[in-house]
Amino acid sequence: MKPIQVGLLGIGTVGGGVFAVLERNQEEIQRRAGRGIHIHTVADLNVSRAKELVQGRAQVVADARTVIADPEIDIVIELIGGYGIAKDLVMEAIAAGKHVVTANKALIAVHGNAIFAAAHEKGVMVAFEAAVAGGIPIIKALREGLSANRIEWIAGIVNGTTNFILSEMRDKGLDFATVLKEAQRLGYAEADPTFDIEGIDAAHKVSIMSAIAFGIPMQFEQAHIEGITQLSAIDIRYAEQLGYRIKLLGITKRTPAGIELRVHPTLIPAKRLIANVEGAMNAVQVFGDAVGTTLYYGKGAGSEPTASAVIADLVDVTRLMTADPDNRVPHLAFQPEAMQNLPILPMSEITSSYYLRLCVADQAGVLAEITKILASHHVSIDALIQKEALEGERQTDLVMLTHATKEKNMLAAIQEIQCLPTVMADVVKLRLENLS
Ligand code: HSE
Repeated sequence: MKPIQVGLLGIGTVGGGVFAVLERNQEEIQRRAGRGIHIHTVADLNVSRAKELVQGRAQVVADARTVIADPEIDIVIELIGGYGIAKDLVMEAIAAGKHVVTANKALIAVHGNAIFAAAHEKGVMVAFEAAVAGGIPIIKALREGLSANRIEWIAGIVNGTTNFILSEMRDKGLDFATVLKEAQRLGYAEADPTFDIEGIDAAHKVSIMSAIAFGIPMQFEQAHIEGITQLSAIDIRYAEQLGYRIKLLGITKRTPAGIELRVHPTLIPAKRLIANVEGAMNAVQVFGDAVGTTLYYGKGAGSEPTASAVIADLVDVTRLMTADPDNRVPHLAFQPEAMQNLPILPMSEITSSYYLRLCVADQAGVLAEITKILASHHVSIDALIQKEALEGERQTDLVMLTHATKEKNMLAAIQEIQCLPTVMADVVKLRLENLS
């Protein structure tokens, strides 16, 4: 059978990986896909660099629209990134009847609903395995492997840059700014690391997983997003003394009132497998009612790990291309007419346990006052440590863990505690998840 012809938009790190892996494993890939997969044309503004990478194995053009207009091309891979020109090109490719494979999480999280609607209308597939957790086949697992389950929650370490920074902060006792500089020097963090350290990249990924897990539209704009820039080394240390590690988690949960969708630094028990995911590695824990807890681990970025996911999508699209569109796997796992519009809960309505650090005057009655306020807001203490005041100091740190409560109760309690004259600094509040 004639090989499938692919047009590649953007040949950077991942595009280079796609080329290398397709070539190295072409025989195995062909045995799986049932026919060859050939990169026909590469479009990249840097034509000379693209030509150097491609070495005559594909045509190289500067204008992506040449690829979209080419009737020879069956599948377009979008590796440009962002949601400017990438969105226009994906929509144009769909309109031209091409199937699309993309690694672009921002595009899918922000414009996925419109893209899937257009693709459905046109009868083409848009595959995006590489958009979440790079090489880990988590989209496949959620959409197909776990389709018997009512998925209850997902918690993921889906940003390698921040996981690397947090691992270094814990290992070396360094503060955030110092580790970030080191990460940039080593090339682990981008020159502009905003999307990573502010939690936006993780929020794109968890928004995508949430939609697929619960059969709801993509709702990135409703996600609560906190990054790691405010995290202090001292809280990582106290958490460790209490048996916890702090990770930037993307969390989405089904509750009777609606869906929780949030990214923030989170204490998790050090004994959980996911707590031991270190460095730039990614991991996603999924709880389904039938299967129980499952964990997926691997590289979340990089040339060949991401290419692994892109090529898996190419194989899937190749296999299903001739199938009746109604018999393909739905883009968001659920049939389009069976999607539900469950609300994303505001943060005040989410339920979590908490870590609190209070800098308090070391004098009689302070602890009693604080626990009284917590009790009046239905916040129950689970563990507590008080550091001995340093010699000559008249203040000390009080660190406590609470049982689960509504966030609005916790905020009301903190507001009241903050007004006590014996509380000497802003109360530090972090959320805690047991993941059991
Ligand atoms: N910047 C991401 C990370 C990789 O640090 O994990 C691409 O999603």
